[in-house]
Amino acid sequence: MIFRPYSKDTGAAHMAGISFAGRVAVVTGSGGGIGRAHALELARRGCALVVNDLGGDVAGRGGSIHMAESVAAEIVAAGGKAIASHDSVADSEGAKRIVASALARFGRIDVLINNAGNMRNALLENTTDEDWSSLIATHLTGSFNMTRAAWPHFRSQRYGRIVFTASSAGLFGNALQAAYGSAKAGIAGLMNVAAIEGEPYGILCNAIMPNATGRMAEQMMKDWGPQQREQGNAMMTGAVGHSMDPAFNAPLAAYLASEACTSTHALYSQCLGRVARVCIGVVPGWQAQRLAPPSVEDIAEHWAEICDTSRGFATPPSPRDELGLVLRQGPAPA
Ligand code: NAI
Repeated sequence: MIFRPYSKDTGAAHMAGISFAGRVAVVTGSGGGIGRAHALELARRGCALVVNDLGGDVAGRGGSIHMAESVAAEIVAAGGKAIASHDSVADSEGAKRIVASALARFGRIDVLINNAGNMRNALLENTTDEDWSSLIATHLTGSFNMTRAAWPHFRSQRYGRIVFTASSAGLFGNALQAAYGSAKAGIAGLMNVAAIEGEPYGILCNAIMPNATGRMAEQMMKDWGPQQREQGNAMMTGAVGHSMDPAFNAPLAAYLASEACTSTHALYSQCLGRVARVCIGVVPGWQAQRLAPPSVEDIAEHWAEICDTSRGFATPPSPRDELGLVLRQGPAPA
């Protein structure tokens, strides 16, 4: 493990550039793993933290204050400011209490990192109602609950930074993760809408797709079949270095959470130290005449053109922009 040393010597005063002095952040699910890394990175740059974590197992069962308390204590011991919360983000009243605790203790909230999550893996046909509900409730409803609770404060101060946590399992797809992947793709949709509604008020919203070892990755390895497990293990060679450490995800999240970031409405992947924007793009496709719908045979005939990625793609920022784009690129109706 290569957690960078966290001590007063690496505190905000010594950190060139991006500072969170005077800022207050809530990081959900920060009692361990990637969330803990986010919280430590913000804290060492002077941010006051609400370390929220349900403190249950990887499936989201059980709960205790200990995980949140231990990370809050780690931050305080290093000279930072932090309080612990173990409310569940899946409970809308709990989400309100998490935000209220930031205001009660630190007087404001500037940053929300929606990171809390659980994982249960099963083939789609074996996914139970309870697993589906739990994963959607924790990831998607939890991100919504937290965002809605923090929103009026961000809006009234005309400043806020929200970092959502999506996943390649949803944006790209992953076997055994119908519910998890749906929740994570839904979070990208939530970010898209929050970004549009937030921009006039200085509320910037982005989502990250992290990668790290830890209890979720270990569970995935267990739930995979022998062949996938073997392939997964074979990829974890020396070339990976330490880049699967949760700490590799924190700089991207911290940048997006900072005043220095003026970007909004985008997804970013952190994978083995490679940081890259992820775009949902639309290719030029095939344009039908606009006076009558095309036939099914027209679709079949033009399938190659419809699927052709060689002419590039566009990422329209809203449905209206997609309409404008098509009107500009297409021929006039015959
Ligand atoms: P983790 O299991 O170590 O961390 C998630 C934390 O969320 C846990 O500490 C857990 O107690 C907490 N939590 C669960 N339900 C909660 C609730 N209802 N309210 C408050 N806290 C709750 O997992 P990891 O790997 O650190 O993942 C962090 C986030 O990144 C998750 O959202 C995960 O889905 C996402 N992610 C992780 C990837 C990876 O490679 N580890 C890949 C893509 C996304």
